Amino acid sequence: MSVETEIRFRLNGRETRLKVPVTMKVLSMLRDLLGLTGTKYACGEGECGACTIKVDGRTVNSCLMYAVDCDEREVVTIEGLRTPEGLHPVQQAFVDHGAVQCGFCMPGMIMQADALIEGNPALTREQAQRGLEGNLCRCTGYTKVLDAVESVVANKCRGAG
Ligand code: FES
Ligand code: FES
Repeated sequence: MSVETEIRFRLNGRETRLKVPVTMKVLSMLRDLLGLTGTKYACGEGECGACTIKVDGRTVNSCLMYAVDCDEREVVTIEGLRTPEGLHPVQQAFVDHGAVQCGFCMPGMIMQADALIEGNPALTREQAQRGLEGNLCRCTGYTKVLDAVESVVANKCRGAG
């Protein structure tokens, strides 16, 4: 019999309360309990970044983190990245630059890219490349991904200037 415990946390801006098995990982909680399938399951071992989400503003591999550790924390998934007007600027840039091919890695890649830009509004292409090393993509060759990230940074710098 699996032991459950109740957790409360903010998920994509909404107060959320639910019972989770103590052995459940965040990725399973999101996909199987909450129906948030934007966060992808691939390796399940912290190697590919497909399951990247933000917890308290920092990216984590949700396949490694226990759901109970979300208690009292702020969780953001790809579903929470939209703005009221539509796509988030990072999502839009990926679309505009043709950085999305099969799309499987994209939720994790976009969450990571957004966190990198948030942490460093003057992010360079080289820093973006290093920061995205944990997010594996078999399709794009990364060039268009980096073009997209660069364009978001350039737009932010223009906006700030
Ligand atoms: S599914 Fe979590 S890192 Fe690969
Ligand atoms: S777009 Fe296919 S794995 Fe990245």
